[in-house]
Amino acid sequence: MKGIILAGGLGSRLLPITRSISKQLLPVYDKPMIYYPLATLMQAGIREILVISTPASLPLFAELLGDGSDLGLELAYLPQDRPRGIAEALIIGREHLAGGPSALILGDNVFHGTGLPEHLSQARDRLDGCVLFGRRVPDPQRYGIAEVDAAGVLRSLEEKPASPASDLAVTGLYLYDEHAPEMAAELAASERGELEITDLNAAYLEEKRASIVTLAQGIAWADTGTPESLLATSEYVRHLELQECIRVACLEEVALRMGFIGPEACYNLGLKMRNSSYGQYVMNVSEAWDNS
Ligand code: TTP
Repeated sequence: MKGIILAGGLGSRLLPITRSISKQLLPVYDKPMIYYPLATLMQAGIREILVISTPASLPLFAELLGDGSDLGLELAYLPQDRPRGIAEALIIGREHLAGGPSALILGDNVFHGTGLPEHLSQARDRLDGCVLFGRRVPDPQRYGIAEVDAAGVLRSLEEKPASPASDLAVTGLYLYDEHAPEMAAELAASERGELEITDLNAAYLEEKRASIVTLAQGIAWADTGTPESLLATSEYVRHLELQECIRVACLEEVALRMGFIGPEACYNLGLKMRNSSYGQYVMNVSEAWDNS
């Protein structure tokens, strides 16, 4: 399975911050926002990842992450000329996916919690059609909402419903089989001129090939697209990191734990950033790993 991170868009809810910088390069506490979705894909064991962003921002992502080889990854980059919708990512990524299944994640979505990697790898292993990840929310009118029956079977999907059928929001992480690019290409644009991801998911649901995994309450999910949620997520990450002496979405650590790189390579990555507490953490984690 290959990954796609969709990191373009307008970021209009964050203006004026996003006038000259991409939203997904903004910091969420101590690291750029894109680290979080990248770490999530890595935790699912995905190593070949396409980053899609605006033509203006794409070189900045390439400068930040390079070809990924430092982390044992293969990263590729492609532009989206203008925000024509989330489902367009699968059309842009068609060649990259080379007829195989994919995991699409939005560049402003932060997932964290124990059991997340297991959730992902289980869903990956039993993928038939598409798998969505749902999370109960207090304000369902703001999200794409899924209705499931008593047996947990997905029954309907609705985008920002006025009278929501449930409080189960569809998060920005989607697993698709190999048919997603061709199905996305058949979608009609919505009223706002976009290829809506809800329409793609609904097409899978129509074929009875869509399912949803409800993330446990212990797994945090945030969309960092507003000033409030950006600050709240930064505070959440800061609190966890200070309290638990861990780092959320530390790419070098994830690469080490997933076996993508060895402790020496990991240590050297930390060494390059030794003036920051992040760099120190990477060095400490590598040393502890080496001695274990
Ligand atoms: P949104 O947050 O829905 O849109 P946005 O980032 O443009 O922000 P705003 O609503 O404040 O203007 O997008 C979710 C994610 O998907 C985000 O990471 C941007 C990305 N995206 C694209 O890259 N291309 C697109 O065409 C769309 C619709 C979203």
